[in-house]
Amino acid sequence: MSKTLFIKTWGCQMNVYDSARMADVLAPLGYRPVEEPDGADMVILNTCHIREKAAEKVFSELGRLRILKDEKATAGKGRMILAVAGCVAQAEGEEIVARAPQVDMVFGPQTYHTLPEMVAKATRATGSVLNTDFPAESKFDHLPEEAASQGVSAFLAVQEGCDKFCTFCVVPYTRGAEFSRPAAQIVLEAKRLVAGGTREISLLGQNVNAWHGDGPNGSTWGLGRLIRALAEIDGLARIRYTTSHPSDMDDDLIRAHADVPQLMPYLHLPVQAGSDRILAAMNRKHTADDYRRVVDRLRAVNPDLALSGDFIVGFPGESDTDFAATLKLVSDVGYAQAYTFKYSPRPGTPAALEGKQVAEEVKEARLAALQQLIAAQQAAFNHGFVGRSMPVLFDRVGRRDGQLHGRSPWMQSVHAVADERLLGRIVEVRIDEARPNSLGGTVVTGEHILTPHALRRVPSLEASA
Ligand code: 5AD
Ligand code: SF4
Repeated sequence: MSKTLFIKTWGCQMNVYDSARMADVLAPLGYRPVEEPDGADMVILNTCHIREKAAEKVFSELGRLRILKDEKATAGKGRMILAVAGCVAQAEGEEIVARAPQVDMVFGPQTYHTLPEMVAKATRATGSVLNTDFPAESKFDHLPEEAASQGVSAFLAVQEGCDKFCTFCVVPYTRGAEFSRPAAQIVLEAKRLVAGGTREISLLGQNVNAWHGDGPNGSTWGLGRLIRALAEIDGLARIRYTTSHPSDMDDDLIRAHADVPQLMPYLHLPVQAGSDRILAAMNRKHTADDYRRVVDRLRAVNPDLALSGDFIVGFPGESDTDFAATLKLVSDVGYAQAYTFKYSPRPGTPAALEGKQVAEEVKEARLAALQQLIAAQQAAFNHGFVGRSMPVLFDRVGRRDGQLHGRSPWMQSVHAVADERLLGRIVEVRIDEARPNSLGGTVVTGEHILTPHALRRVPSLEASA
């Protein structure tokens, strides 16, 4: 019998991927995804713990869902199974069970392959099923091969967890130790995605460029070698990977940016801060100049490469001089876009115990200054494309009538009037207009032939602010 499943996802792309895979695990049990929680037979909150107020958001959502759950039961329409998954579940599972008795299942990111057993238990039992283990077996070995189509642009988790232990970050605790999936398993999943219509794959991992696997004859593969193997899949037009750590950008991965045309010229490479004192306190294991050198090596092999980053302002002990070093680094590097955060103390992380917390007003002011600089760089980057054409992969219908939405090689959103038959195709678009967060253009040719030469016809990406 068909049952309905609503999943609400917070946080990173890995959570989006996990939600899709949870739906795959539940499909053989008869669960079909729906867009609204009202009346659903199962609701899963897939949560994120990276920054503040995550747990409070989950509890207020559970309050609303309790009403829906009661309404469904009162109307004689059966039971709504309520579940909390993801990193809040991992970090605060016991508190959720204690505070929210309406919840039937609480489980961490490493356990969702056991969902069928958990559902069976929850259906029989009263009270919550709590599962926040780090099981010895990998969930990736137990996920169904049959997966719902992910569309034109898909995520593929290749690595999970992190051994870096940056002092602000919960990931090593919620996602566990660094784990790389075997290359053969990844290639098979990529082939299945491409057979289902995917043309662009983003390889995911909390520390994706730490990925390593066994190659033939006892050799070890790094992410660069894996990307070369994936580039051989017929029909896979674009490859991306996120999120990388600067210390794990090895030579082969950097070279892949020169000689794998499918590897898009855009890299999310967080540095977090520009002051060596703060980088050391963050346990980042690199200096600001180490980061500059990695960027120089990347741009030496591919001058078209656009960079994105993550920055934290107001880390404990950050002085005006330290913050000035962050602004200087941003000016030197030049970003196409970036994510900026105020430091938020996370329970259980070393930095949260630091005495020298920065005042909220100071964090606000630094965030505003940094955002202004990055917005100016992003605007300059986007404006550089006006009047030029670029290959755009159309991935969905746009908001305005007759428009399609697509992605440039540099991850910009591009809108253009285009026939829906161009969905899933890479088409040459001339850019007419640059907005702060997107581009508008006109289709100029049919399907784009992806060549390294074509990819090179772009404005230079010199630092712009
Ligand atoms: N406070 C603020 N930002 C954080 N991030 C991770 N932990 C924290 C924290 N405690 C940011 C980092 C990371 C991104 C995913 O979230 O910049 O790269
Ligand atoms: Fe967190 Fe990234 Fe540092 Fe790992 S490398 S601890 S995921 S910020």
